[in-house]
Amino acid sequence: MAKILSGDCEQSLDHAAQLLCRGGIVALPTETVYGLAADATNSSAVAQIFEIKGRPLIDPLIVHVLNCEHASTIAHITDTAIKLTEIFWPGPLTLVLPKKPAIPHLVTAGKDSVALRSPSHPVMRRVIEITGLPLAAPSANPFGYISPTTADHVQDSLGSKLQFIVNGGPCEYGLESTILSLLDPQKPSLLRPGPISKVELENALCQTIVLPIPIQKDTAQEAPGMLLRHYSPHTSLQLSPHPHVSHTTKNKNKTALLYLTKPSDAILAEQENTSVFWCSETPDLHQSARHLFALLRLIDMMQFNIIIAELAPEKGIGIAINDRLKRAAQPKA
Ligand code: TXA
Ligand code: MG
Repeated sequence: MAKILSGDCEQSLDHAAQLLCRGGIVALPTETVYGLAADATNSSAVAQIFEIKGRPLIDPLIVHVLNCEHASTIAHITDTAIKLTEIFWPGPLTLVLPKKPAIPHLVTAGKDSVALRSPSHPVMRRVIEITGLPLAAPSANPFGYISPTTADHVQDSLGSKLQFIVNGGPCEYGLESTILSLLDPQKPSLLRPGPISKVELENALCQTIVLPIPIQKDTAQEAPGMLLRHYSPHTSLQLSPHPHVSHTTKNKNKTALLYLTKPSDAILAEQENTSVFWCSETPDLHQSARHLFALLRLIDMMQFNIIIAELAPEKGIGIAINDRLKRAAQPKA
C-alpha cells in the first residue's frame, strides 16, 4: 500500500517534489480529481504513468503548469490562450496548443500539440513550484474506471502500485477539467465538457465554440482518449431522467437508484425495497458533481446488479455530468 502524506505539511511536499525530480511518480490532489504525476519532460518517468494506469499509449496526458509564463516553456501560447488564462487560470480549464520540443512525444501520444492546465489546488501548485517542473498528470485511476476525488480512492485502486499519495482533501469540483482546443484560432473546439461551461468560454472570447464530435466508436478522434466507455463502475449502469423501479422490475433489492439531488418524499415512498442514493441534499448540481464519482464508487462496492442513475438537465455543469454518466453507462466492448 502507498504511504499517504499530509498535504498540509511542507516537509511532505518537499519529499514528493524530490521524488518527482528523480523521475518518480506521486499521486497529487487537484481541484478537479486526483492526478498521477510525473516530470513531463522525462520520458521514462512518464512511461511509468501509462504502466501503472494500464493506459494505452494513444491517450495523451495533460501537463500541469504554474501559470502562463511556465506554459510558454512547453507550448506556443496564442492571444486567445492568453485571454482565457487571464480569466480562468488557475482553474479547471485545459487548453490544447502547439507543443514545443521540451515535451516528449510520449506525453502527447505523438501529436504536435500539448494539453495544458494551471491547477488551483494549493498542494499541486506548491509541488509544481518546488520542482519547477511541468507535471504530466492523468486522473489517478486504473484506465477506464471512475476518477478519484479523495486520497482514499487512489489508495483503493492504485495503492499497491504507488509509493506516495499526497492527501489534499476531497476535490472541489469532482469532475475533470474542461478541455478546449485552440489549434485552429478561428474555431476553438470543446473536446471535453467540464466545470467551465461552453457558454462561459464563448462569453469570454466573444466567439462561438465548436461542439465536440458526438460520442462515436473508438476510432480516430480529435481528443484521443475521449473513449466511448470511460469512468465506468463494474456494476452495470442505466440512465434515466427519472430513475424509478416499477412493479415489473425484477430483483428490486439488487437495484440501486442514484439521484443527483434528493428526491421528494413522494418519490422516495414509491421506491419500496430499493436502495436510493443521492449526490446532494439540496438542488445544487455543482454539489452533485462534487460527490458523483465518490458515490458511484461506493455503490459499486455494494454488490448491486444494476445502478439506475439520474441524468441532469442539459445545461451548465449538467452537460459535464451527463457526459461522464453516458460514457460510464456504455456496455463493455
Ligand atoms: O481535471 C483534469 O483534467 C485531470 C486532473 C488530474 O488534472 N486530468 C485528467 O487527465 O482528466 P486524463 O488523462 O484523465 O484526461 C486527459 C485527456 C485525454 O484523454 C485526451 O482526451 C485529452 O486530455 N488530451 C490530452 N492531450 C491532448 C492533445 N494533445 N490533444 C487533444 N486532446 C488531448
Ligand atoms: Mg482520466
